[in-house]
Amino acid sequence: TTVRKAYRIGFSQCTNGDAWRLAMLAGMQKELSFYPEVTFRMKDARNSSAVQQQQIKEFLREGVDLLIVSPNEAEPITPIVEEAFNRGIPVVILDRRTTSKLYTAYVGGNNTEVGRIAGNYISSLLGGRGNVLEVLGPIGASPALDRHQGLTQALAAHPGVRLVAQVHGNWERPSVIRQLPAVLRAHPEVDLIFAHNDRMALGAYQICKQQGLSRRVRIVGVDGLPGTQGGIQFVQDGILTATMLYSPGGEEAIRTAMKILHRQPYDKENLLSTMVIDSTNAPTMKLQAEKLRSQQQDIQRQQQLLQRQRDTYANQQTVRYVLLAA
Ligand code: FRU
Repeated sequence: TTVRKAYRIGFSQCTNGDAWRLAMLAGMQKELSFYPEVTFRMKDARNSSAVQQQQIKEFLREGVDLLIVSPNEAEPITPIVEEAFNRGIPVVILDRRTTSKLYTAYVGGNNTEVGRIAGNYISSLLGGRGNVLEVLGPIGASPALDRHQGLTQALAAHPGVRLVAQVHGNWERPSVIRQLPAVLRAHPEVDLIFAHNDRMALGAYQICKQQGLSRRVRIVGVDGLPGTQGGIQFVQDGILTATMLYSPGGEEAIRTAMKILHRQPYDKENLLSTMVIDSTNAPTMKLQAEKLRSQQQDIQRQQQLLQRQRDTYANQQTVRYVLLAA
């Protein structure tokens, strides 16, 4: 039998406070269950770049074998990631990026493409003519900047569709609830709201409903999580016209990390694909997600069964040993 090395992985997460991040962690844990010899620790920076810098420093002091980092903001997290990389500690960047090429691998969506595909979808939805309001994430975070750039690139090809207003959100619903009413009053011409994630899109819907606009103004989000509070359900319920799939990538991050640690070939850029989820495919997506969930439960049951059999076997070996010794 081969003894597998007890690697330590440190995961610096910008926030662990929403369903998308919890899905990311669940994906990681699922993949990690195949590597019981690996010690995995997460530190949650709770949306603070200063806290995240400190936590990455702690990981370096503690001596991890590999770092996974999802940077809260690109600029402030770049130097400490470069330092880790220059010290020879492999770094997997997940979802949000730094501003540097000094990292071992990236796993996550192509956010420029998310914005571009959304922009093209929006333009055809509006029949090439209409006014768009954009609800952005903090542009210090790479997905917000990239989604915005992708959107404007796509809209540039459709001169009849204009970006007429912006709301700068912080990824969370309350930031939209607070700011959107005034912006909508100043811009009654808005036909469609593109929000950088489904939580902010839900906030936009609630304000539109309050102002009696929910029939007129269409809303498109990003993330497309399964589950009752996820974007797929929002599309099915008619709250959102569409959402752009943005996978959390937890499984892929651990798979890439393990390839790096085992010195197997790996790709530096691991881009997860996106697609439009609207009323035409939301039911299929929902069914698929439910099927995946039940398969995952089966796998867990099989793992428990295997563990029980291993325990029984270990007990029998002990009995045998005791009998032989007697
Ligand atoms: C989760 C989240 C997602 C968004 C992503 C961008 O924390 O806000 O909703 O797509 O981060 O990094």
